[in-house]
Amino acid sequence: MKRLFDQIDFAGMKLKNRFFRSATHDAFADEQGHLTPRHYEIYEDLAKGGVGAIITGLTSVCGEEQLQTGQMAIHDDSFIDEYRTLTTAVHGHQTAIILQLACLGSQYQHSGEKPVWGPSAVEDLAYGKMAQEMTREEIRQMQDAFAQAALRAKQAGFDGVQLHGAHGYLLSKFLTPYYNRRNDEYGGPIENRGRAIFETYAAVREKVGPDYPVLIKINCDDFMDQGMTFEDCRHVCARLAELGINAIEISGGSFSSRPDEGPARKTPAYFHSYAAEIAREVPVPVLVVGGNRDFDPLEKLVAQTNITGVSLCRPLIRESALINRWKAGERSPALCISCNKCFNPKGTTCVFNRPEKAATGADA
Ligand SMILES: Cc1cc2nc3c(=O)[nH]c(=O)nc-3n(C[C@H](O)[C@H](O)[C@H](O)COP(=O)(O)O)c2cc1C
Repeated sequence: MKRLFDQIDFAGMKLKNRFFRSATHDAFADEQGHLTPRHYEIYEDLAKGGVGAIITGLTSVCGEEQLQTGQMAIHDDSFIDEYRTLTTAVHGHQTAIILQLACLGSQYQHSGEKPVWGPSAVEDLAYGKMAQEMTREEIRQMQDAFAQAALRAKQAGFDGVQLHGAHGYLLSKFLTPYYNRRNDEYGGPIENRGRAIFETYAAVREKVGPDYPVLIKINCDDFMDQGMTFEDCRHVCARLAELGINAIEISGGSFSSRPDEGPARKTPAYFHSYAAEIAREVPVPVLVVGGNRDFDPLEKLVAQTNITGVSLCRPLIRESALINRWKAGERSPALCISCNKCFNPKGTTCVFNRPEKAATGADA
């Protein structure tokens, strides 16, 4: 029977348990997306705190775009050395580290001259940006940017990369009928809407070689009108498994979702049934993220389903050593109350951990 504290072989990595820190943007990079001293502190703290693997915050593969000031980037070779310092520090604590790669599409706040890329010329419901329909040449440029970035990640010592195919960023927008209205081979039925992702995966694989772990984070459903459906998700996961993806992390929703149906909800364990279904269907490891707060139900989940691992984001912003606490037998639920006040453009932190607010958790 599978247990949370099993040591596992995961997508070619040896991990000390089944806990993952899910990707978490922190807004602590400099204006060019380079790491700052704060990153080394945060990531070393997480590595000491007990998770088997850390997935970094979303990292831009295309130049000239930042979700907010302070988003990490990896769009040229000048980034390799600083990331190598980061991976070396994390590895010092027997923890794996995976770089999340993203192209933002129309979900961003800062960019230079670069056009707003989208599958079709549709205004972003959340960000209000009008996208330009990407040409085939631009789709190839995007795929090449992912591939080059993945190679840099490998050179910098990351244990693998995760393609951000969820939450309304550019890859995910191709899957969403509301945003993808193309009539060519990239639009229409899910085999076509999935093509941008399948080709991106293939471009990355070609660059990093057959043995390097390549993961994807994907929505089970967009939870919006004319969004991608769970049927679409099943199709894309099955195809990616055939193509050789090493693991799939199931999330859901985006900034365009109906209220309270985005990726970071207040309810517990909200994507477990979707992930269990995908894990039953595809022969690759499946992770589930979203509302994982309570040890015993998670232990039961991995014991009773094919799900390989569980990912946590907000709980580890509040308690970076949560996994060590659980390992030591102190199994009360995560202290995180999912208030979402950690979303802060000045830097991702928990209000309960900011000294001046500690008593009340008042607005940041
Ligand atoms: C502050 C913050 C930053 C996030 N940044 C990212 C990110 O960079 N990439 C990503 O895929 N998801 C990101 N997410 C979503 C989380 O990875 C996760 O899917 C979501 O918060 C649900 O998990 P949780 O209940 O454990 O927080 C972020 C969430 C929060 C709260």
